[in-house]
Amino acid sequence: MSHSGIIFPGIIACFAVSLTATVIVPNAQLGSLSPEFKEEDGRVVDSYPVADVSLAARGKEVYVSQGCQSCHTQVVRGSDTADVERGWGARKTVPRDYIFENPPVIGAGRLGPDLANIGSKSWRNEPADDPYKPEKRDADWQMLHLYHPTAVSKLSNMPSYSFLFKTHRIAGSGDKDALKGLPKSLLPQEGFEIIPSADAKALVAYLLSLDRSHSLKEAPAVAATAPAGK
Ligand code: HEC
Repeated sequence: MSHSGIIFPGIIACFAVSLTATVIVPNAQLGSLSPEFKEEDGRVVDSYPVADVSLAARGKEVYVSQGCQSCHTQVVRGSDTADVERGWGARKTVPRDYIFENPPVIGAGRLGPDLANIGSKSWRNEPADDPYKPEKRDADWQMLHLYHPTAVSKLSNMPSYSFLFKTHRIAGSGDKDALKGLPKSLLPQEGFEIIPSADAKALVAYLLSLDRSHSLKEAPAVAATAPAGK
């Protein structure tokens, strides 16, 4: 007995259901997202997010190629979770945050903290009185952390990315980008300095560009809560 009358419509039905569930419905829900514009004084002002066309865009490629996303997510979960309380963001991240990201680097695991807002002024990952970490991580801090994480984060178990730096002999008054604030044990030999590669500079520009704290209609920023451990 032939079942072709059932098999072929069955195959087509399976294909149609998968296409609807994985492409058509998500596209209908998220495909038309655009930046949020606020109109004031008759002008369109204050749009968020904006497309990234900078050194930071190159840094994102370095971030992905180095596999940072295997230990770091870039998704702050809802306001009632520990993420906001820890200081990883002032609000949860939502699909609109990623509309210019191709691909979005949502991340696969959380061995390290969430980095969705690492470039924002209020990002924290420890009690504010932690003697080892400053409240604001600037470019110099991020460079040192990549070069040798325990130089700035005493108990860190993040791998070192020192291969993104090179040690060279100081010429003239020295390189303006040379690492500053190295502990004595990591200082290079007299007459030498450690400078970041183009990849390290781009990577730090990318980290400092990560700020998804802008308040959105669907995700208003919540008031800052006490830092973790307080
Ligand atoms: C094997 C897991 C792992 C990988 C891979 C990894 N990290 Fe981390 N990262 C951690 C851990 C654990 C911490 C928390 C300890 C610390 O602060 O160093 C951390 C912390 C951080 C922080 C926050 C530091 C602070 O407190 O302000 C930044 C920024 C960071 N990582 C960037 C990166 C970048 C960029 C890469 C890729 C080049 C990367 N990480 C790869 C585990 C990882």
